[in-house]
Amino acid sequence: MSDRPSPASYLSELFSLEGRVAVVTGGSSGIGRAVAGALGRAGASVVVVARRAAELAAAVRELEGHGCRAAAVSADLGTREGVARAAEEAAAAFGEPDILVNSAGVNLRPAMGELGDEVWDATMAVNLEAPFLLGRRFGPGMAERGFGRLIHISSQQAFRASLTSGAYGVSKAGLVALARSQAEAWSPRGVTANTLVPGFVMTPLNARVSADPELVRTLAGRTLTGRNGLPEDFAGAAVFLASPAAGYVTGQSIFVDGGFSAH
Ligand SMILES: NC(=O)c1ccc[n+]([C@@H]2O[C@H](COP(=O)([O-])OP(=O)(O)OC[C@H]3O[C@@H](n4cnc5c(N)ncnc54)[C@H](OP(=O)(O)O)[C@@H]3O)[C@@H](O)[C@H]2O)c1
Repeated sequence: MSDRPSPASYLSELFSLEGRVAVVTGGSSGIGRAVAGALGRAGASVVVVARRAAELAAAVRELEGHGCRAAAVSADLGTREGVARAAEEAAAAFGEPDILVNSAGVNLRPAMGELGDEVWDATMAVNLEAPFLLGRRFGPGMAERGFGRLIHISSQQAFRASLTSGAYGVSKAGLVALARSQAEAWSPRGVTANTLVPGFVMTPLNARVSADPELVRTLAGRTLTGRNGLPEDFAGAAVFLASPAAGYVTGQSIFVDGGFSAH
């Protein structure tokens, strides 16, 4: 008889999130919802954070339907007070988080010459400042406990301009640098910080683009896989980055884009 452990137990050693607590902003929709589901099914207790209560409740029901422990916090991450309250309420649900995923985001992209203060401020607040503030709130505790995972959802527009990148691309490029700074600060004490970089993913965020079949086809043609992304495409990469297996992966941008950026 071989004493080789079963593949399931080996995989569990590498990737299980059993006993971990994850906070996923934007966990009520699109990529964040798929990531919340994946982390929950991999064993984590999951707190989803967003504004709309009905979508949050649906996400919690979905997680619980998979047998996961889940809770929701309704908060506006576009204000510093909202972020501070969200952080305390999220930590109150299952304890201080081991994993933070920043997926909440807005995509307001007027032409550069028409980009007003309001759009700039709203974009930076949700897309960049909230991830910074939540990282500052949770990162030091993770470092003290010797384990943490900070995962930001960036965008290919952090690396190239297209479809009026405007303030959006700037905020997403900021996340790439934020992950590197967080990695520098806390990786020596077991906290990794990375970004996942989607291409074009069919979610409510992109309703305007998704409504244009010609543009959808053109964007799919820009990938090497021949199709646009789906929220489920982020499940494996998120579980990997959150897992014990990824302890030596930090400060990186991981492209989950069907090859969009490879040519
Ligand atoms: N879809 C793509 O092609 C694509 C490509 C590159 C990057 N991304 C990035 O991926 C992330 C997720 O996008 P998605 O496509 O999954 O979009 P989505 O389906 O529209 O989800 C966005 C989420 O963010 C939450 N949110 C927005 N503003 C918020 C605020 N002020 N306070 C709290 N929560 C807020 C939304 O909930 P409420 O509205 O209820 O608050 C929702 O849960 C975003 O950061 C986006 O920039 C998406």
